[in-house]
Amino acid sequence: MSTQLWFPTPVSLKALVQYYLEINGTVSRQIVGELVQFAPSERTKLELSKLVNDKALFKETVTDKLLSLHRLLHMISEKDEPWTNVPFSFLLESLGKLQPRFYSISSSNLRDPLRADIVFTIDSNINLNFKGVCSNNLLDLRSSNDGENSYDLQGPNGRYQGCKLPVFIRRSRFKLPLNLEKPIIMIGPGTGVAPFRGFIEHRILQFKKLQNKEKMGKLYLFCGSRNEDDLIYVEEWNRCKEILGDKFEIAVAFSRDVKNGGHKVYVQDLLLEKEKLIGQLIVEEGCHVYVCGDAKGMSKGVSKTLIDILSTHEGGDLKKGDKLFKGLRTGGKYHEDVW
Ligand SMILES: NC(=O)c1ccc[n+]([C@@H]2O[C@H](COP(=O)([O-])OP(=O)(O)OC[C@H]3O[C@@H](n4cnc5c(N)ncnc54)[C@H](OP(=O)(O)O)[C@@H]3O)[C@@H](O)[C@H]2O)c1
Repeated sequence: MSTQLWFPTPVSLKALVQYYLEINGTVSRQIVGELVQFAPSERTKLELSKLVNDKALFKETVTDKLLSLHRLLHMISEKDEPWTNVPFSFLLESLGKLQPRFYSISSSNLRDPLRADIVFTIDSNINLNFKGVCSNNLLDLRSSNDGENSYDLQGPNGRYQGCKLPVFIRRSRFKLPLNLEKPIIMIGPGTGVAPFRGFIEHRILQFKKLQNKEKMGKLYLFCGSRNEDDLIYVEEWNRCKEILGDKFEIAVAFSRDVKNGGHKVYVQDLLLEKEKLIGQLIVEEGCHVYVCGDAKGMSKGVSKTLIDILSTHEGGDLKKGDKLFKGLRTGGKYHEDVW
């Protein structure tokens, strides 16, 4: 039986581990379960088995601490205890191929088709001694001259010398509607606002060329951050307002602003404040709605709020609100880019 390899051959084990295997991912309980058979001593076997057999303990010790396979082995092993029984094929199969990291493009290709901006945050409060594959590497690239890098910025055979990185662009269906006259609602707290910076830049460039500027549909942006200091693109939003005037409206939710007296304000709250307008835009004006950001809480919260708003628009009829929301989705007017 032959297998297609995803890495170039011949390759040294060091290069394979460093550049092609997903060594930094949080290790799963299943993999640790399979690893028990290769433990170098009865003690480590017992320790690993304890973890594998206790779901809650595994979550607390491994998953919540984002422990990768090598960090787990390091933690569990006694000093100088090598794991010589682990077959390399086991590592190849369990770790798998290093996956690309995706970021939304936060600029318009009308401005420059050969340049794409991205935005990302690095949470320095995470006290887990964890450095992933991409964002911190990008940060290192920026400070690559001060000699304090955690990443090998040269790449295999020096391929990335001179601040280079392997990147590619994936086609996206998260795009502005071609019809310029339709109003659009954009909802993106945190770095979820990234693609909307590109959308608005795009519309500004189109707006400047429009003879009848009145024709352009309004752009409504709902974004947010923990507090004013965290908010990104503030100056740009001001510039957008200067250019677009009443064609651009922005509302910002600060979730941890002392001025709110401990009360969290989320983008959903801002939508509710404008529920009449939102209902009208969606039902009567056929606007498109875009949501970008966290998939766990935010996007679910936003869809629930929109259903409530549409129900209110329909005189408090939840069934009708739900139907309208489903129609928005199936009609290709509700766009999500969440993870
Ligand atoms: N960078 C990109 O290009 C890009 C593109 C697409 C998606 N994303 C995703 O976007 C997310 C953004 O992360 P981030 O670190 O910038 O910000 P974040 O952690 O998502 O937080 C941004 C704001 O959202 C608030 N928030 C938390 N739970 C919420 C909920 N249930 N409903 C509404 N708002 C809520 C946060 O408030 P509190 O923390 O105070 O509760 C905070 O004020 C990540 O999941 C990322 O993967 C990023």
